Amino acid sequence: MKAPKIIVAIDGYSSCGKSTLARQLAAKLGYNYIDSGAMYRAITLYFLRNGVNIRDKEQVAEALSNIHLTFVFNEHTGKSEICLNEENAEHQIRDMLVAEKVSEIAAIREVRSFAVAQQKQMGKKKGIVMDGRDIGTVVFPDAELKVFMTAEPDIRVMRRYDELVATNPSITIDEVKHNLELRDYIDSNREESPLRQAEDAIVLDNSVLTREEQLHKVIDWVKERASVIA
Ligand code: CDP
Repeated sequence: MKAPKIIVAIDGYSSCGKSTLARQLAAKLGYNYIDSGAMYRAITLYFLRNGVNIRDKEQVAEALSNIHLTFVFNEHTGKSEICLNEENAEHQIRDMLVAEKVSEIAAIREVRSFAVAQQKQMGKKKGIVMDGRDIGTVVFPDAELKVFMTAEPDIRVMRRYDELVATNPSITIDEVKHNLELRDYIDSNREESPLRQAEDAIVLDNSVLTREEQLHKVIDWVKERASVIA
């Protein structure tokens, strides 16, 4: 009998490898992978481009009503890429200008309800891996498997620095460190669905794990959970 499809929720701090794991896991299981952070980044890009004043509720509501987010699968990279109003924005949303603002914008209640409603919809048919900050606590509180990822701060900084320096040679380690610390602080201390480990989440510290090792661990957990509901 084919294993039933489940929902896998992956949460954790910035740059601890959530999206790498989520993408590999989804490919292995034949599930959809949704990077919820990409949605908040795309909303931020729209706000920046259009000079939206985030203290003005009407402007925020108007901006959200003009945002249409979709994901397209890129067969060459094996990644789902985000489109902002039909424009592929996957590259632009990784820019530091977006990273500097995203946590402030993701803390706005209306922005969260806008994104969370779409995320919940995407999980209706199960067979999904979603990563973010509030996936196991708010978006899918009933997810069959919840993973809370962590890694030592210095390791996270270097992983993100290596990623960013490839396209932005002038970036410094200090800049990256400051951005990660700031986002983790805002994400953990905001009023609206702060970053928290769900009570029933399994902690995965991948400071010294290879990508393959972490993938195998999580696949074992998926098998356990899927067999419980089979
Ligand atoms: O990849 P990285 O760890 O840098 O972050 P991301 O997943 O791209 O998310 C960018 C930002 O979006 C986070 O720092 C949060 O402020 C926000 N976010 C959120 O509030 N809730 C989520 N479910 C996902 C991201």
